[in-house]
Amino acid sequence: MPAQGWRGRDVISILDFTREDLCSLFEAAERMKRLLSEGRVSRLLEGKIVALAFFEPSTRTRLSFETAAKRLGAETIGFTGEEAVSVAKGENLADTVRMLDGYADVIVIRHRYEGAALYAAEVAEKPVINAGDGKQHHPTQAMLDLFTVKELFGGIDGLVYGVLGDLRFGRAASSFILGLTFFKPEKVYLISPPLLRTRPEVRVRLEEAGIRYEEVDRLEDVLGELDVLYVTRIQKERFPDPREYEKVRGSYRVTRELLEKHAKPGLRVLHPLPRVDEIAFDVDETGYAAYFIQARNGVPVRMALLSLVLGAEV
Ligand code: NCD
Repeated sequence: MPAQGWRGRDVISILDFTREDLCSLFEAAERMKRLLSEGRVSRLLEGKIVALAFFEPSTRTRLSFETAAKRLGAETIGFTGEEAVSVAKGENLADTVRMLDGYADVIVIRHRYEGAALYAAEVAEKPVINAGDGKQHHPTQAMLDLFTVKELFGGIDGLVYGVLGDLRFGRAASSFILGLTFFKPEKVYLISPPLLRTRPEVRVRLEEAGIRYEEVDRLEDVLGELDVLYVTRIQKERFPDPREYEKVRGSYRVTRELLEKHAKPGLRVLHPLPRVDEIAFDVDETGYAAYFIQARNGVPVRMALLSLVLGAEV
């Protein structure tokens, strides 16, 4: 797709895009990946400034955006944590965003409140990229997750997916499920304790897209059918009541033994990371583990995204 269709666009939800948009992003990401593997230097975004406004903690998302920008010759400005900026002095979000809008060419924002990125996009003239807003959306994570599936399997259609964990508060899981609705999965299993079921709006979207899905409690019951197992941690910080968290803490765990007993040999396990205890460390050295490949893909996918949004010819 010509870069034109992406130029200046806000990236708030994965649902803002189409299958064609995503496929063009993946093609651009493949080119970026080649560039990285050949060790070539690109100045594609030279002179551009990317603002990284992380009001919430982040490791991979912030650092991969920063790496992506720098690999293309752009500069970054930004902060992590509210205490580091004038929010701690009582500044409101709109004022902070207006300021960044005046300094940078694109604003990447993470915030604990749902809707914060959309609000920032309304305030800012420059494109705003949502790097996670509360429990709601994490579109760039879904982009790199889908890209990783495409890379591992040669396509996204026709596979059986299991999404395991905190489907209620996890924005990465919800965005991944929403992203799947642009494709034709064979089936999607939503695997979680009853307390952490997928939110209604996500289920409605699956239904609208005509995707076969089933909600189940136990991984063991469906593991043997899966091509992709997408695991997420329990989002402890988003529970309104800590006693609710105690009820589900440690309620699922993927181990090497479990995988060797039930999984198809070609199963690949994804996880947006950070992991707590939901994937045992002994899974890391098996052929199932694909979460570090996935994390690495954050850089080429975000390089492609920044280039497209900033209107650079990829
Ligand atoms: C995810 C997030 O922040 O939503 N992490 C990430 O961006 N890779 C998932 C999580 O925190 O569990």
